[in-house]
Amino acid sequence: MVKKKAAYQVAVVGATGAVGAEMIQVLKERKFPVETLHPLASSRSAGGTVSFRGADVTVKELTKDSFADIDIALFSAGSDVSKDYAPIAAKAGAVVIDNSAAWRMDKDVPLVVPEVNPHDLAWHKGILATPNCSTIQMVVALKPLHDEARIQRIVVTTFQSVSGTGKEAMEELMEESKVLLRFGQPEPKVYPHQIAFNCLPHIDEFLPTGYTKEEMKMLHETRKIMGDATIRVTATTVRVPVYIGHSEAVNIETERKLTANEARAILSTAPGVQLYDDPAHALYPMPLIVAGQDEVYVGRIREDESIPNGLNLWVVADNLRKGAALNAVQIAELLVR
Ligand code: A2P
Repeated sequence: MVKKKAAYQVAVVGATGAVGAEMIQVLKERKFPVETLHPLASSRSAGGTVSFRGADVTVKELTKDSFADIDIALFSAGSDVSKDYAPIAAKAGAVVIDNSAAWRMDKDVPLVVPEVNPHDLAWHKGILATPNCSTIQMVVALKPLHDEARIQRIVVTTFQSVSGTGKEAMEELMEESKVLLRFGQPEPKVYPHQIAFNCLPHIDEFLPTGYTKEEMKMLHETRKIMGDATIRVTATTVRVPVYIGHSEAVNIETERKLTANEARAILSTAPGVQLYDDPAHALYPMPLIVAGQDEVYVGRIREDESIPNGLNLWVVADNLRKGAALNAVQIAELLVR
């Protein structure tokens, strides 16, 4: 745990990025006891400022010496930075909460979603990981159903926003859209193809099996977080031209039959879940209404009539908040509680 104090020295590594900026915002909104904020980034943005609690705070370059006296270090500057610097930060005495994929499957690193497996915090050795955004929102919605009826298999298709790739991808969607509306020809840089007015069934690298790494994260991370190595998961992950908010079509097969009404009743009181399921009035979760919210929104709950014990759900969350920054700050809150 972190040594108890009235307020903490908190570093944000990747403070100028899409998730880093959200981390700083969430720290402020939730009144996390920050004594001093230490925004860190590459030399490119060192000397610039970020705003925190009404003051401009100077961004410093990340170096090996950045972590002296830091209590908590929130990392979101990509896997390479986390691989190199998380152990340095932990050795200097900070507790690292890492948003990248670098440490998630390490056997010495708890992978934590506070609504699902807060108990795993207890065995950290200086580095904790926050899961992939699409996994987080799925397990928040599914854990209460798993506890009730034991999920045996998950089939999931994701519709992931460009902010999951980072700020350059958000700029690319804006630029491409402008070019196309002027009947021009966009030149993709971040993605292998045009993302505006398109869908790319390609997130992270392809593996020899034909799956992408993103798709396999949804299997391995779900098993680790749920503490159940028997759950079968098959995923198709798709990048869509949405700025913020990931959507997921989730099909589950359970050991015991759950009716749609039972599932609704369970999810209506589940931590971190907002049931939003009134299709008769065209009310269902959408990225446009969920962006900026903390909860994981669930709707379109219906029984899968093709199998005896199946359910379909539509799950949407703000990938920058619950999918990344908020989950990391919630872990920090548990650490200091
Ligand atoms: P910088 O703005 O200086 O490039 P995003 O995921 O939105 O693209 O943001 C990535 C974040 O990670 C940014 O804050 C970026 O800083 C930071 N970053 C990228 N590479 C490094 C690095 N080698 N050292 C420190 N910070 C880095």
